[in-house]
Amino acid sequence: MGITNRASVHSPSKPLDPTTIEFGKVFTPNFFLMKYADGSWQEPVIGPMQDFQLHPAAIVFHYGQAIFEGLKAFQQDSGRIVIFRPEMNARRFNLSARRLDMPEVDEGLFVEACAKLVENERYFVPASPGSLYIRPSMIGVEPCIGVRSSKEFYFFIMTLPAGTYFKEVTGGAGSVNVLVSESVFRACRGGTGNVKAAGNYAASLNIITEAKKKGCVQVLFLNAADRAHIEEMGGMNVFFVREGKLLTPPLSDTILAGVVRDTVLQLARDMGIEAIETPLAIREVLADIRSGRITEAMACGTAASITGIGSLQTESGEVIRVGSESPGPMTNGLYHQIRGIQYGQIPDRHGWITEVCTLEPVAR
Ligand code: COI
Repeated sequence: MGITNRASVHSPSKPLDPTTIEFGKVFTPNFFLMKYADGSWQEPVIGPMQDFQLHPAAIVFHYGQAIFEGLKAFQQDSGRIVIFRPEMNARRFNLSARRLDMPEVDEGLFVEACAKLVENERYFVPASPGSLYIRPSMIGVEPCIGVRSSKEFYFFIMTLPAGTYFKEVTGGAGSVNVLVSESVFRACRGGTGNVKAAGNYAASLNIITEAKKKGCVQVLFLNAADRAHIEEMGGMNVFFVREGKLLTPPLSDTILAGVVRDTVLQLARDMGIEAIETPLAIREVLADIRSGRITEAMACGTAASITGIGSLQTESGEVIRVGSESPGPMTNGLYHQIRGIQYGQIPDRHGWITEVCTLEPVAR
């Protein structure tokens, strides 16, 4: 079934300045919506953004049947608009859908819907260092207070002009302070930690609020079973540089397989860096940072791109500074590689770029 386009093409009333856009608060005028009812997906439509009118008993409100994805479109110097690795998000979306007992979305349609929406909203893709953040989501909307899977769903995609995710990062990779969450855990074996369930993020909000009170903007989660090994952050994967080698925890059913995580591993190997997926005990990592064996740490995610970690703080208040607290050479090198590919300044050797359209100026 083709995508119906009922949207007009708009352009922003004033030029978008990616250095001042607050992440997550600015939306483009149109969105994509496809409803599921009577056992099948209905007509996919791009049209003006609208509020949803949902029954207060909609399953998403009570039992959290909600999943999402995050990917980005970039405006390259030539005016070409591209999306970075959308097929990985399509695949992971269906992994999440299966885990939360939701209907799968055809992966070709997922990518086409993102591309067609981005093309429609093309004048809202800020130039470098900005991007257009794409947020596909699915929610169970059937009114039912019985605990069971919804029989009706909305799959929708919004787009948001974006600058940096962390307002503390004003240029380049930047760096942020991170709290080690020793008392709150985001995932357990057999749970939903390896999929993008909205509830995973709900469970991380209280400790993120606590972190902010302590001067940190993010948290680092540990394995809930052993309370000893590092897993990931609240929406990003984590890497460390120890004696020139790049280290990250191996994937498991408690860690989300990040698209940027996968990209960083590949880019590091392309750059001749030894990149190792290995269990990392927090006690050893903190000792290695204190002794200077670990010189860099970084958070990697679609929204955050690659951001340096300036310090780790324990819940008892000890602050362990990482290297010089500024992004180190490997963080900067990887950041410039990924950004170079996304903005078309470095060749896309791995076929990560999906072309959407080329920007033509319009009269406002
Ligand atoms: C993303 O990076 O796309 C996420 O979904 C994580 C969230 C912190 C915005």
